[in-house]
Amino acid sequence: MEDRTRILEAALEAAANAIVITDTKGSILWVNNAFTRQTGYERQDVLGQNPRLLKSGRQDPAFYTDLWQAITSGRVWRGVLLNRRKDGGEYPEEMTITPVRGEGGDITHFIAIKEDITDRRRAEEAMLEKEKLESIGALAAGIAHDFNNLLTVVLGHTALAVHQLGRNHPVGSQLQRAMEATEKAADITRQLLAYARKGQYKQENLDINGLLRENQRQIATLLGTNIRLSLDLAPDVPIVSADPVRVRQVLFDLVVNARDAIQEIRADRSNSQDCAVTIATGSRAITPDSDLTGYQANAVPAPGLYASLRISDTGPGMDPDIVTRIFDPFFSTKFVGRGLGLAAVLGIVLVHRGGLQVVSEPGKGTAFTVLLPAESADDRTQAREPGCWQEARGESRSTPASLTKP
Ligand SMILES: Nc1ncnc2c1ncn2[C@@H]1O[C@H](COP(=O)(O)OP(=O)(O)OP(=O)(O)O)[C@@H](O)[C@H]1O
Ligand SMILES: [Mg+2]
Repeated sequence: MEDRTRILEAALEAAANAIVITDTKGSILWVNNAFTRQTGYERQDVLGQNPRLLKSGRQDPAFYTDLWQAITSGRVWRGVLLNRRKDGGEYPEEMTITPVRGEGGDITHFIAIKEDITDRRRAEEAMLEKEKLESIGALAAGIAHDFNNLLTVVLGHTALAVHQLGRNHPVGSQLQRAMEATEKAADITRQLLAYARKGQYKQENLDINGLLRENQRQIATLLGTNIRLSLDLAPDVPIVSADPVRVRQVLFDLVVNARDAIQEIRADRSNSQDCAVTIATGSRAITPDSDLTGYQANAVPAPGLYASLRISDTGPGMDPDIVTRIFDPFFSTKFVGRGLGLAAVLGIVLVHRGGLQVVSEPGKGTAFTVLLPAESADDRTQAREPGCWQEARGESRSTPASLTKP
């Protein structure tokens, strides 16, 4: 019998799920190894304590009243709650609490079996984002081919008319406006396609520092004289295999957003020296232990070596609930009908199998970090000739841009 108890205890210790046994008042009598791993608390920290030491404050008191009522009346309670580790980090947990009855039929203990579902949640979010991308992709691809062709025809004929009528013709300025609007329409289609990861992608060896130097003047002009630009280019940035036009689009979308954000609050600032955009490059090795907080669910970088491009600003920062929506197409706090910039950035980063992180806090500014995978030694030999990432042969409308060269 003693042997059996020892074996059962060993089994509970070996279980992957955290297990907590309490008395009927909720005092902790026993926890297994998985509990200490999951929560960061040592056994001696928690014995005799109440499990409320894991409370995050994210559930209201009624939640705990219901839970307590269920288990004290002998029912099994199952649910998901947000708890707090010893280090203060929050994690979602799926928990089952089972009352245990003694020989007389009275409840003597409660057994809680707990699973940290952070990874599962992340996978579910990534799946949802993927489905959203696919449905918008199908929509965008559906309109893009015909729509883009039509816009090209409109633009071509308008340009021809302007040319034939001469610059000073009375309808010249109207035609000019028609051309500008058509170009804008084409731009929106391009951004939607980028979000949907459609279209052709060139594949070239790209030096991010070189790209920044080439565009430094244009970025400074874009920021204007009141916003200081500082470039912090690391010497060891890995070469990436990427489409330079798309990476430039990412850079400019992020810079324009930083400028807009700063301008929003600049009027309130007495000292314009506070207004700065910093662009920093670097080399980043991702390992299974890397802290990946702030990476978008479907743009979490896989382990490997990356070139990093970080654009940070001294703007107003964002509330966490805004941050969750900024990559949605047509989400904008600026104007109706805008909000494709970051959607396109995300699409482009995903085609390059990169990572995308946003760190933002009200009052503390915003930083976007783009990681692009370092070109591997194998690719380097193949990539000497510029290649192309493009839609699969047959130009299927719903086939996303792929990373394989033709
Ligand atoms: N650096 C930043 N600081 C503060 N808020 C930002 C920053 N970058 C983006 N945002 C927020 O995210 C929203 C979405 O950005 P996004 O680039 O997708 O659209 P937009 O800039 O509003 O319009 P568009 O880029 O299509 O012209 C912005 O409206 C803004 O609220
Ligand atoms: Mg934008």
